[in-house]
Amino acid sequence: MFAALKPQAPDKILALMGEFKADTRQGKIDLGVGVYKDPTGLTPVMRAVKAAEKRIWEAETTKAYTALAGEPAYLAAMARMVLGDGLDAGRTASLSTVGGTGAIRQALELARLGNPGVTVHVSDPTWPNHLSIMQFMGVPFVEYRYFDDATRGVDFEGMKADLARAKQGDVVLLHGCCHNPTGANLTLDQWAEVSAILERTGAVPLIDLAYQGFGDGLEEDAAGTRLILSRAPEAMVAASCSKNFGIYRERTGVLMVQVEGAGARDVAQGTLAYLNRQNYSFPPDHGARIVQTILDDDGLTADWRAELEEVRLGMLALREQLAAELRDLTGTDRFDFVARHRGMFSRLGASPEQVRRIKEEAAIYMVGDSRLNIAGLNRDSVPVLARAIVDAGV
Ligand code: LMR
Repeated sequence: MFAALKPQAPDKILALMGEFKADTRQGKIDLGVGVYKDPTGLTPVMRAVKAAEKRIWEAETTKAYTALAGEPAYLAAMARMVLGDGLDAGRTASLSTVGGTGAIRQALELARLGNPGVTVHVSDPTWPNHLSIMQFMGVPFVEYRYFDDATRGVDFEGMKADLARAKQGDVVLLHGCCHNPTGANLTLDQWAEVSAILERTGAVPLIDLAYQGFGDGLEEDAAGTRLILSRAPEAMVAASCSKNFGIYRERTGVLMVQVEGAGARDVAQGTLAYLNRQNYSFPPDHGARIVQTILDDDGLTADWRAELEEVRLGMLALREQLAAELRDLTGTDRFDFVARHRGMFSRLGASPEQVRRIKEEAAIYMVGDSRLNIAGLNRDSVPVLARAIVDAGV
């Protein structure tokens, strides 16, 4: 049986992590995988997370199963955080998932149950694992134009034209904020236009919200999602707590599904629980409990929000510094897009050959499509990166 297995191509982002680890050069810089690092290179446990874990440890008397769809208090807290006042609880089913990736997977499973002929529309480019999961599942997808290589901004005219081809019952996968891998994002006016296209076509939005709080702020980063959900009859949101709570390895995510019509919520809720049962039964609880403990406590929430804001502003300062360094070195403003992008990532627009040179000559690791993780930088490494970018002829 196992002799028939074929080697799988390694995930590019995860393979880069291994390559970086094996590099013995002093001063190497990891701008690959999307993990936040503080100026000393550490991915810290957030203060509120530590405090919540202590409370949980002290109060917890059992490790018995919770609910199949996940702890209801966690699901309610996340729905409030993501959807705010726009939450329509009577129309929203939700599921605790194994991270944001698990939420994406379950969303695709649900879409396929609802429409076996579903086609998913994805941005070009998108997070490579979106494509990989769909290929694995055999879910057909088509790409819509998203990134303008010339301006390093959103090709909104191209995006609109391509989305207009979506059909009733298709899924349109959107990045709620902090687009991965480009860092280029829609304005609220553009979200409204996307919403109108969804309405015209009858396609169902699936919003991947993995970086809420890393772009323009916790509320601001959810604004596009909230706008879409306020208008769409049906919608899905896959949210991750990995980044904004810094609990990557706890695998904490949520899938929210907005439905319409009497009775539809209960059926959707039951189907979501069924999907958990088929795939891994009960979802992991520890991360969900941390998040719920924080969000249900005013003091912990305030401290968490303050630390998240420090993280966000730190990344913005690094963006400004990198853009300024590149302005000085090149005497042009052609890298100013770095300061306009939001979130962890920016797509630099370097060729694979230039990315390779930067890795070989300067020991700076970025993903092959020239996505760089801004949070992997600090004040001292920004000038090193800027110099390497210019030396590689980007
Ligand atoms: C990334 O894009 O680097 C992150 O989402 C981590 C991952 O799992 O790929």
